[in-house]
Amino acid sequence: MQSGLHVAIIMDGNGRWATQRGRPRLVGHRAGAEAVRRVVRGAPRLGIGTLTLYAFSGDNWERPITETTGLMRLFGNYLRRETAELADRGVRLRIIGRRDRLPGELLRAVDAAEATTAAGTALDLRIAIDYSGRDALVLAALRARGAIGEPLDRDHFAWHLGQAMHAEGRAHDVDLMIRTGGEQRLSDFLLWECAYAELMFSPKMWPEWTAGDLAAAVADFQMRERRFGRLPAMETVA
Ligand code: FPP
Repeated sequence: MQSGLHVAIIMDGNGRWATQRGRPRLVGHRAGAEAVRRVVRGAPRLGIGTLTLYAFSGDNWERPITETTGLMRLFGNYLRRETAELADRGVRLRIIGRRDRLPGELLRAVDAAEATTAAGTALDLRIAIDYSGRDALVLAALRARGAIGEPLDRDHFAWHLGQAMHAEGRAHDVDLMIRTGGEQRLSDFLLWECAYAELMFSPKMWPEWTAGDLAAAVADFQMRERRFGRLPAMETVA
């Protein structure tokens, strides 16, 4: 597992960004892929050890087939185009989520990208595709039930949760959860992992997001006092 901050981002607003410009939604998703590129480049120097990006939820399959097919193609293109640079930058890529509903072509790109970047130590980049936090919890519970004789506690459950969604190792807590695009909800993302996450909502549409926005979000996070249910540091002395 990486040291450093775990930042997760719900990349919302691609569709509206495109519609506001009179363009098809997929144009917004393509611009969103450029924003992914910018934040991935910026993340390691901000003390981020793990960056988890929500690219496609289990419920996104309900969108029109032109959009879902276009997104799957975009993810494959991104992986094929970016893998060499990610490896050069020491970025280790994993795709988290269900894999059984992904097109074969995308799965091949995922396998190649994960293998090529496996030695990276500068940043763990996890892209959530066909991901559902609730499904992850159910799958983890099923795995835990099958592990007869093993104690069931938080640590063991977090391990099963990591395995259920093809993350390597155990699920690990999110420090900062950001959602762009002006909405303020979790949309079934990393429900267990966000137990004590700091939440941040940005009105900016995802295609406009920059490495500078990420730096500002991390700076804001660093100013917050995290208490994990305890009293503030000052009051425990009194
Ligand atoms: C939500 O915005 C965004 C998505 C469902 C897709 C996210 C995909 C990308 C950022 C594209 C590139 C990703 C990678 C990993 C290469 P929305 O389209 O629902 O926006 P809306 O709320 O404005 O309609």
